[in-house]
Amino acid sequence: MGYKNLILEVEEGIALLKINRPKVLNALNRETLLELQQALKEVEEREDVRVVILTGEGEKSFVAGADIAEMKDMTPTQALAFSQLGHATLGMIENLGKPVIAAVNGYALGGGLEIALACDFIYASQQAKLGVPEVTLGIFPGFGGTQRLPRLIGKGRAKELIFTGEMVDAQMAHELGIVNKVFPPERLLEEVKNTARRIAQNGPVAVSMAKGSVNAGYNLGTEEGEAIEITIWANCFATHDQKEGMGAFLEKRRPQFRGE
Ligand code: CAA
Repeated sequence: MGYKNLILEVEEGIALLKINRPKVLNALNRETLLELQQALKEVEEREDVRVVILTGEGEKSFVAGADIAEMKDMTPTQALAFSQLGHATLGMIENLGKPVIAAVNGYALGGGLEIALACDFIYASQQAKLGVPEVTLGIFPGFGGTQRLPRLIGKGRAKELIFTGEMVDAQMAHELGIVNKVFPPERLLEEVKNTARRIAQNGPVAVSMAKGSVNAGYNLGTEEGEAIEITIWANCFATHDQKEGMGAFLEKRRPQFRGE
């Protein structure tokens, strides 16, 4: 399917999904969020996709936030709908049955950092700048930033970033635990693809179930989370890939996973 504000390329089991509004540093307007929902449905359904990489078109920006021009004259009712659309879209990323890696190639600000936080993990370019500057605009993070950021880096550190609106560089974002790895700009995409290829070699159902298990337990107590893990783990044994993976190990050959 063709998109106006996105570029979707699939190669070797990896979908590269780029936000493509470089003139406005890939800011997220309604149309782009709706297209993202379509693209997420597409990659979820496509059997040739095992891992998704989310990045921004151009050298300067991943996503510089929600579209300020579109938001400026919103009424509270329109703002409610816009935030709900953002949450629904980011929720689709978080709950996609396939891993989604954010390749932060430049500015990841406001809704841009929030969309990266909805991905499973983040790699960044040394040139990246990350932050939640919404308070400088008279609002605060409204695409999940007040929820996902404190859970990831702790309440105090998240509040400092949210209240000051300060941008941090990739190294600082790494030290804070927002970013898993930092690379020179020219190596970022290849390194993300290398990780995506490693994941794509594994049993897709097992990877998907692992994602579901981590997500399902993340906001629960340990005992409830463990109960969920037990159930999901046992379900692996209903798959072809579990028999194949263990059979291949015992027969000393490479497994042929089928994703079922
Ligand atoms: N929305 C709409 N347009 C944006 C934008 C955004 N979030 N970010 C940048 N742009 C536009 C600029 O208006 C400019 O357009 P024109 O060429 O037509 O003037 C173009 O992109 C290039 O931007 P700059 O000229 O500002 O580029 P710069 O290099 O001088 O600065 C920047 C880069 C520091 C990222 C700066 O653009 C900036 O501060 N952007 C806004 C960042 C921001 O506040 N994001 C949060 C948005 S609110 C939000 O996301 C709400 C939420 O929680 C969901």
